[in-house]
Amino acid sequence: MKLSVIVPTFNEAPNIQELVQRTTTACLGIEAELIFVDDSTDSTPATIQHAAVNSTLPVRMIHRDHPSGGLSGAVIEGITASDAEYCLVMDGDLQHPPEMIPVLLSQLESTASDVALASRYCGEGGSNAGLSGTYRRMVSASATLVTRSLFPVRLKDCSDPMTGFFAIRKSSIDMTALQPSGFKILLEILSRQRLKIVEVPFIFGRRSAGTSKASIGQGLHFIRQVGELRMGRIGLFAVVGAIGTLLNLLIMTALLFLDVHYVVAAIAAAEITILSNFLMQEKLVFNGALHRAASTHKRFLQSVGFNNAEALLRLPVLVLLVEMLLINSVLAQAGTLAAAFGLRYLFHTKVVYLA
Ligand code: GDD
Ligand code: MN
Repeated sequence: MKLSVIVPTFNEAPNIQELVQRTTTACLGIEAELIFVDDSTDSTPATIQHAAVNSTLPVRMIHRDHPSGGLSGAVIEGITASDAEYCLVMDGDLQHPPEMIPVLLSQLESTASDVALASRYCGEGGSNAGLSGTYRRMVSASATLVTRSLFPVRLKDCSDPMTGFFAIRKSSIDMTALQPSGFKILLEILSRQRLKIVEVPFIFGRRSAGTSKASIGQGLHFIRQVGELRMGRIGLFAVVGAIGTLLNLLIMTALLFLDVHYVVAAIAAAEITILSNFLMQEKLVFNGALHRAASTHKRFLQSVGFNNAEALLRLPVLVLLVEMLLINSVLAQAGTLAAAFGLRYLFHTKVVYLA
């Protein structure tokens, strides 16, 4: 097989028939197949099966009863299930015109690139007109700008790392390095390896039927994904720690302002920070590892227990270092803080989140 067209679907029943028809026409003369990776809860699977029977293009469906990794997880599953030389990923709501399939494939082949992507932001003719509302267009454009500046080398030739319409040469991609969690699978692929990229402008059309699954939650997920790709998990953990420290100082200041005794204020600030750090860890740092870890209840007790013990032990250790080993107190304090950070990170990755 030369080409697998991979289409992730979540409740896209009204779009399936037209999508299969237009894809079949677009793939005439190409040795191709269509793979749906479906996580739907509506009649999409039945619609796909029906369309498959009447189609001249081979159609396969992977229906996932227990979907993991959302859109990216689905795309990775489709690529893994394909034996083809090339995989092309396309949305199921016709915002990506199937007529572009042969264009992307021929660009990939003729330029000997690893990735050919349909870009909304390149050359004459690229457009994101289909993004509903000025707000979404602005969010998309600024997220693109920030992401490109965070990966100046790997995204040098990529004007639209957030597009979901692209083709890859399978042999060039290290699939094992990918973490199927974000909404933005192309960014994941491009930021983990240096790849040769070719772009084709396209107009991101309007959704044909149904509703978009984009949400604030996806937005947060995206920030987490970019953060982790850029700084690694330990970097994200450090950012959470830094936010926690700022919060701690803020709460302490507020309580002192309310005439609370400074020891009580320090304890209250520490406890609130420990709680907020736990929440941020869960949402931002270890979000992708939660399925492997113990229950929320157990994670909470382990994390809060460790952080309290660490906060309590730091003072006696400091005294020990200063009094017995005669280390300069500021230096000793820096040492205990650094050791505490390292231990906290190790404990959370190895024990709490098994990540
Ligand atoms: N299998 C599966 N599982 N498919 C999903 C899931 C999921 O959890 N979530 C969404 N999809 C499918 C949808 O059915 C659709 O075919 C495609 O993924 C894109 O989802 P939309 O809900 O239409 O998202 P969008 O239009 O906001 O996002 C598109 O534009 C982005 C650029 O702005 C997508 O193309 C993104 O990939 C693209 O990055
Ligand atoms: Mn869409």
